Amino acid sequence: MTNTTLTTLRDQILADCTAAPDIAAIEALRVSALGKKGSITGLMKDLGAMAPEERRAFGQQINVVKDEVAAALESRKAVLEAAALEARLASESMDVTLPVRPETKGTLHPISQTMDEVAAIFAQMGFEIADGPDIEDDFHNFTALNFPPGHPAREMHDTFFLPTAEDGQRYLLRTHTSPVQIRTMMSRKPPIRVIIPGRTYRCDYDMTHTPMFHQVELLVIDTATNMSHLRGCLQEFVRTYFGVDDLTTRFRPSFFPFTEPSAEMDIGCSRKGGELKIGNYGDWLEILGCGMVHPNVLRACGLDPDVYQGFAAGMGIERIAMLKYGIPDLRTFFESDLRWLRHYGFAALDIPSVTGGLTR
Ligand code: DAH
Repeated sequence: MTNTTLTTLRDQILADCTAAPDIAAIEALRVSALGKKGSITGLMKDLGAMAPEERRAFGQQINVVKDEVAAALESRKAVLEAAALEARLASESMDVTLPVRPETKGTLHPISQTMDEVAAIFAQMGFEIADGPDIEDDFHNFTALNFPPGHPAREMHDTFFLPTAEDGQRYLLRTHTSPVQIRTMMSRKPPIRVIIPGRTYRCDYDMTHTPMFHQVELLVIDTATNMSHLRGCLQEFVRTYFGVDDLTTRFRPSFFPFTEPSAEMDIGCSRKGGELKIGNYGDWLEILGCGMVHPNVLRACGLDPDVYQGFAAGMGIERIAMLKYGIPDLRTFFESDLRWLRHYGFAALDIPSVTGGLTR
């Protein structure tokens, strides 16, 4: 073995390396040069037969070539990998500005659309979205919301209970989104301004009730929040949502364990000729429950009622969707009837915002 042979071998390998068309070729070249039975590795084996002086000098040269070849293989591999990635990105790219294909059949369910509309309106007012689990415990769904054990209001919720768990807890499917008020107040500091859209469950089924339905909860906690904020906020919401700028609202005293005072909000409507119309026509339609958060609820969440107050509200998503889009029967929402979905569904890319897509 001579220096010339080593140089020739090196030049050959480097030339092959530069010419390697793909990563597999690089790998094959690496094995053929540096692998166990590779050409350079083979040279190392010849060292044993050499005189000590010669062995040292030649050994060093082999090592230099070895490093050079390894570096060349690495850099060629990097170039090929980058090119492969480029090619893949180019082949997988898509033009997001292309119009939706006309044959696309999917539509957005009115529930999704309504939730998006509600979120758009409250986001504009500075609200965030919060959420919590569908499976709740008694504490969050009832006790912390000031439903004492045995309180009759618990019975009104027709709760689905789960079998008693190993820890002795009786978990349940949340009967309203209000437990997320508790979770929110216990996990973050005021000021709080959240909406909580989500699924809720009650054991009930008729034209206006389904065992699973949706609510959106509102919660505002601060140091100077009062009933007029509640009123202004909810009035602004219904005006924007229904697209009636001067829509009048009416607050009737009511009862909820977790608010004091509590109210139900009505909006103006007409029922003339059996047709329901939203607007200032002299008749009234109940739309949501609301009130100032009860001091006991604040206390249960570790907030001092002498420092913090706030308001809460809750409404049914299906109900406000039915009213806005003229859907007569609640049960049809969940029957997955394609004809219904095509009729009441929304274009998937028509994203609602306060400035567009909220009314059609
Ligand atoms: N959780 C109530 C229900 O499901 C609705 C509700 C009423 C929520 C008043 C509230 C509220 O936050 O203040 O019937």
